[in-house]
Amino acid sequence: MAGSTGVLPPPKGYLQKLRAICDKHNILLIFDEVITGFGRLGHAFAAERYGVIPDMITFAKGVTSGAAPMGGVLVRKGIFDAFMNGPDHVIELFHGYTYSGHPMAAAAGLAALEIYKEEGLFERAKTLEPVFADAMMDAWKGLPNVLDVRTLGLVAAVDLAAAPDGAGKRAYAAMETGFHDHDIMLRVTGDTIAITPPLTVSESQVGEIAERVAKVIRAVA
Ligand SMILES: Cc1ncc(COP(=O)(O)O)c(C=O)c1O
Repeated sequence: MAGSTGVLPPPKGYLQKLRAICDKHNILLIFDEVITGFGRLGHAFAAERYGVIPDMITFAKGVTSGAAPMGGVLVRKGIFDAFMNGPDHVIELFHGYTYSGHPMAAAAGLAALEIYKEEGLFERAKTLEPVFADAMMDAWKGLPNVLDVRTLGLVAAVDLAAAPDGAGKRAYAAMETGFHDHDIMLRVTGDTIAITPPLTVSESQVGEIAERVAKVIRAVA
């Protein structure tokens, strides 16, 4: 799912076709799972949800549940081995980031993974997905300026019609009034509002988020 471009789920068969094209031409397939990884779509990774195995997966946010900055890359064995076959005295894939392998971020990552497992949060996201989808659809469809509503896993987006004075202005106004008047911090891109609650969100909180966003949408009509 493309997140930053407005929560765009892949069309049916799209990822499978990408995989086939990459295989045919010997191209590496990379999934950026910075948003979709670690349970957001009800699975460990979107790759799992869609049954397509890329050659590399980039990840960040969810690995620490956003509590500390950390990112990483998962690679298939062939790529891993290619880097590991160098001389013993050379560090594999040497990257000199100041904060590489930071102990606090690593501890936050381990703690987050433990909680995801203990509390079954990926499965929880999967179970909550239809409830979340219904809540957002019911609350937003038919409101003024709403062009489309999309949900996938615990991600939702609503496209608003552009204001006459310029693209992006209506969603920006929604972000401002949400923050100042409705106690909700919204992520906007263009004229799309995107929602990604924590995986621990309760059903009543899902309803509350849907209602607050509806109020915001009405406020910027
Ligand atoms: C899909 C996606 N990829 C990459 C990034 C950037 O990730 P990072 O800041 O960890 O480099 C973001 C940030 O929001 C993102 O949403």
